[in-house]
Amino acid sequence: MADKVKLGFIGCGGIVKSHLKQGLGAFPDVEFVGWCDLRPEAAEERKAEVGGKGTVYTDAAKMLDEAKPDAVYIMLPPFAHGAAEDVVLERKLPFFVEKPVAIDMKTAQKVADAVKKNNLLTSVGYMTRYRQSVQKVRDLLKSQKPVLLHGGWLGAGPKTYDGIGKWWVQKDKSGGQFLEQTTHTIDLARCLFGDVESVFAVAVHGRKERPEFFTIEDASMVQLKFKNGAAGNLYSACCLGTAGGVMLTVFGTAMRASFTGWENTVAIQTAGGEKIDIKGEDNIFALEDRAFIDSVKAEKNVGILADYADGLKATEIACAANESMATGKVIQLA
Ligand SMILES: NC(=O)c1ccc[n+]([C@@H]2O[C@H](COP(=O)([O-])OP(=O)(O)OC[C@H]3O[C@@H](n4cnc5c(N)ncnc54)[C@H](O)[C@@H]3O)[C@@H](O)[C@H]2O)c1
Repeated sequence: MADKVKLGFIGCGGIVKSHLKQGLGAFPDVEFVGWCDLRPEAAEERKAEVGGKGTVYTDAAKMLDEAKPDAVYIMLPPFAHGAAEDVVLERKLPFFVEKPVAIDMKTAQKVADAVKKNNLLTSVGYMTRYRQSVQKVRDLLKSQKPVLLHGGWLGAGPKTYDGIGKWWVQKDKSGGQFLEQTTHTIDLARCLFGDVESVFAVAVHGRKERPEFFTIEDASMVQLKFKNGAAGNLYSACCLGTAGGVMLTVFGTAMRASFTGWENTVAIQTAGGEKIDIKGEDNIFALEDRAFIDSVKAEKNVGILADYADGLKATEIACAANESMATGKVIQLA
């Protein structure tokens, strides 16, 4: 591979801006060759943010064939996955995909199967895994049994219904807050406690006056049973008038750890009386982007902490929760 990794982007909205600003934009060993978005103005904006490098496209296959990236960033809303992955998979290119990897299991499973068959390098945007706070708690849990965890994302929801705010509030576009946003906490729960066996979820509706197109839940409470026998409760709300936040509290047989804030700052208390505080990093997108670019250059995983198979599992839990909300049943995972 040449000194610089050539990158193409499919979807050029807000999250790409964050990756460019924090990480990719300053990496000396990447080259921006293609920007694809159904809204060319979004692609033009991202292109301008890297000094006008690369070509704007509205067709992903055309971008891959003309700009010839070494790796692709798939940065699409949940409902838009499937066709983009198909054209990337056809060309057997390594890719980074933002969370959640899909809105349904059929799409995610098809991509996961092709990734496995072709042994492709992938990374999913669960950046929380790269935090020192998470690594520390994960290490501590290795020498004790996980017991309980609870946490989630609580807030007011979008202030305006344009841009991301428009698709986010439509259940058939975002999959709902649990699938789209609390997916970070789902992945963190899996990262710390392991795989999930069953899911039971309750939806809360009708807390506020909403426009007709607002079809997601106002809130939800999701009960997880882990394969190792531990239990978890994950909550989401987008109707609160008071401060909510992002949080996760984890109890092991010899530890309590409380993560707070989007940056997952942690306060740990061990059974031996030790107190450990670790502040969340400011440059988390840079850390996960570095791991992906280094792995593309090495043509093997040299630091990616969440791959497509992890994205599939988080999506499976969220889809099971959606099914449970709709049916009132406990859903057993495969
Ligand atoms: N890791 C994080 O913390 C984090 C934060 C924000 C968003 N995200 C995720 O990133 C994804 C994108 O979110 P966003 O904030 O950038 O949304 P956005 O609405 O700002 O941008 C999405 C872009 O995708 C484009 N698009 C839609 N369908 C397309 C298609 N078929 N081909 C090409 N372009 C298409 C849209 O025109 C839009 O410009 C979501 O899944 C979201 O959950 C992750």
